[in-house]
Amino acid sequence: MNNLVKSDVSILMVEDNPRYLAELQEWLKEISGFAGVTLQPAAGAHGEFTGVLMMAAYHKQRGDTKRTKMLIPDAAHGTNPASAGMLGMSVVTIPSDERGNVDLKALEAACDDTVVGMMVTNPNTLGMFDEHIEKVVKLVKDCGGLMYGDGANLNALLGIVRPGDLGFDVMHFNLHKTFSVPHGGGGPGSGPVGVSERLLDFLPSPLVGIVEEGDDDIEPLYGFVTPKHSIGRMKAFHGHFGGGLVRAYTYIAMHGPDGLKDIAQYAVLNANYLQARLRDTYKIPYDRICMHEFVMEGRFEGSDIRALDISKRLMDYNFHPPTNYFPLIVHEALMIEPTETENKDTLDAFAEALIKIAGEARENDLQVFQSLGSIHGARHPGHHARIGIHRVAEIDHAVGGVVGMQDHVQQASLSLVSDARNPGHGPGGEHPVLNQPQPPWPLGDEDPAVGRRHHGPGAFQPLGDGLHAEGTG
Ligand SMILES: Cc1ncc(COP(=O)(O)O)c(C=O)c1O
Repeated sequence: MNNLVKSDVSILMVEDNPRYLAELQEWLKEISGFAGVTLQPAAGAHGEFTGVLMMAAYHKQRGDTKRTKMLIPDAAHGTNPASAGMLGMSVVTIPSDERGNVDLKALEAACDDTVVGMMVTNPNTLGMFDEHIEKVVKLVKDCGGLMYGDGANLNALLGIVRPGDLGFDVMHFNLHKTFSVPHGGGGPGSGPVGVSERLLDFLPSPLVGIVEEGDDDIEPLYGFVTPKHSIGRMKAFHGHFGGGLVRAYTYIAMHGPDGLKDIAQYAVLNANYLQARLRDTYKIPYDRICMHEFVMEGRFEGSDIRALDISKRLMDYNFHPPTNYFPLIVHEALMIEPTETENKDTLDAFAEALIKIAGEARENDLQVFQSLGSIHGARHPGHHARIGIHRVAEIDHAVGGVVGMQDHVQQASLSLVSDARNPGHGPGGEHPVLNQPQPPWPLGDEDPAVGRRHHGPGAFQPLGDGLHAEGTG
């Protein structure tokens, strides 16, 4: 397969490519329990937009034009309300109950004949499988709405539960989260969308399909087909062909049905193991058996240290920091999502680093948090005095804080690159990012306090993915 092939015409000229796409569509249908799948959308958010567009087209085609409200739980990823909002719908936020489920009473009160549908992530961003999901689906359907599934967390369900069987009408897959496709720094992703029978005719065009049936001797001929009431084209071609679709195809083929189930079971086991190890050290506000992730608070009574400081400190221990400040309903959220691929040694080392950091935080020794924190300090003089002031509003951090952190890390990488290339260009120079204090260890030495290696100019290694703070979710 040629991952450089981009256009519709050339892709069809590469023998077998359409067949691979068709097979991937079929596998995704089988995995999710949906009747049809489009591979077009380029990412999860793009898949959401595609799905909500189909929901709107469905109601419109039936002449049901008063439906303008999208119901979305407060634990949802920000792309959910954004997708509905981009289509001019009004968003009604449904609170979560104390166990992290959709609050059924609030949902019931919001259900009426103006509801387009509901967008639900299950398991949700707290890592909780909704204990009343069937009731949620029924309430929405009884008022004529459609159920949208945010499939970003599908890795927790593979081979165990199929959203189509639960009654969802449409769902995007984040191929880049479930089938090993990387999603560092926001992309590139791949967000195919699955639909139930009633949305089949609205799928984007073109779909990969059989244009001439085969027989015992001849393979079917694959090509492009257009659904009857298609919402049209969402992208020039199908997803990210090489990096996304081919990779997901390969991952699914390699694992097979039993292996897919293992993915879900290991992801859930790993998250529950970490949750059990950290439960006595960090506050976990929704503390019950979790799915592939759980969310804990990055703050301690009497300490000024917060989630962002803990994440930066984790980098000192050579760990990729978790998602910060999301979901919004957990204060100082640290979302821990280990995935299926981590082994017990790594999980233990990660838990021990977090336990050690909690000890440091409780001592409230701000100096300890200044190593990578100085990156922040360089751009915001007085940052360390600011540690205690903190967080104007959670939303500010969910949007600006995380982006801001990426910015800081990027700036830090840049400064280190610049440091490495210009050994004479030391701290305190005119480069704004380099206005940071000289590290307290000689460059290139081992810091005995935490056993980490600090690379001097000659030994520079870019911070790279390992230190790259991801966006939310
Ligand atoms: C729950 C959830 N929904 C939607 C998205 C959006 O996916 P993407 O980043 O591919 O646009 C994410 C991504 O982080 C997510 O975690």
